[in-house]
Amino acid sequence: MRPLESKVAVVTGAGRGIGRAIAMKLASAGTKLIVNDLDIGPAQDVVQEIRNCGGDATAYPGDITRPDFGERFIAAAVDTYKGLDIIVNNAGYTWDSVIQKMSDEQWYAIIDCHLTAPFRILRAAQPVIREFSKAEQAGGQAIFRKVVNISSASGLSGNPGQVNYSAAKAGIIGLTMTLAKEWGRLNTNVNCVAFGLIETRLTATTSDVSSTIQIGPHEVRVGVNPQFLETLQKNIPLGHAGSPEDAANAVYLLCLPESNYISGQTILCSGGLSA
Ligand SMILES: NC(=O)c1ccc[n+]([C@@H]2O[C@H](COP(=O)([O-])OP(=O)(O)OC[C@H]3O[C@@H](n4cnc5c(N)ncnc54)[C@H](O)[C@@H]3O)[C@@H](O)[C@H]2O)c1
Repeated sequence: MRPLESKVAVVTGAGRGIGRAIAMKLASAGTKLIVNDLDIGPAQDVVQEIRNCGGDATAYPGDITRPDFGERFIAAAVDTYKGLDIIVNNAGYTWDSVIQKMSDEQWYAIIDCHLTAPFRILRAAQPVIREFSKAEQAGGQAIFRKVVNISSASGLSGNPGQVNYSAAKAGIIGLTMTLAKEWGRLNTNVNCVAFGLIETRLTATTSDVSSTIQIGPHEVRVGVNPQFLETLQKNIPLGHAGSPEDAANAVYLLCLPESNYISGQTILCSGGLSA
């Protein structure tokens, strides 16, 4: 029996990068998945990959910042798999500028994606989790559910050029701590993983040709200056940037039954680099 056999998970931004690795890891542990991404092709590819390995997954493409997304996303899990055990709020991107150059649009886009969308997903999940939990408790069962929100070292200690992103990633930590207090009675653990430097398209060197990404109508510059990246990597105690699989493993730990007595916490997954 695999550790998360027959659990039902929803993961946002799971078409590539860290989200993809989380979806693959959860699927390999027996979880059935609703795989979201803004981009339909990558979401479908991940679903196909999971099915090729004998797993069960359904693509749910769409923009998490749409006001009705949370309700639809949670309903998709319940309608498709008749359950809701794990929620991973992972989708996101960076849209950096120093404060004097940051537009309202840039500010709100990042707050919407990293904070408002997870809030709406979790608000939509509450009545569903409450009903499942009530029925289980009435039957004398204690079944634990897991929320893992994704933050960043930037949300713990700030990062120049990221007032929008660091504010959103600090906000999700506050949301996590409050929800852990509200949802303890529902046997639901609510935790956060803050990543340091993980190798994805967001942290590729800016000398790469692909240093812009398309987010809806916006072509957004991402990536890290090569010299800065080199210095940063040298300062990581474990000696290298993390892979998406390293990142996914930290999320996985917080989905296991062994974490049932851990809630309201933020784990820094950064190869030992302090925030
Ligand atoms: N890579 C790092 O070093 C790092 C560090 C700290 C935190 N993070 C966080 O980890 C998470 C994953 O980032 P990643 O590095 O894997 O990036 P990525 O670009 O490789 O993957 C993110 C995925 O999210 C999707 N996405 C973006 N906006 C979306 C939206 N509105 N609706 C639905 N999907 C959307 C993208 O299409 C993409 O497939 C993000 O929350 C990011 O802020 C990453």
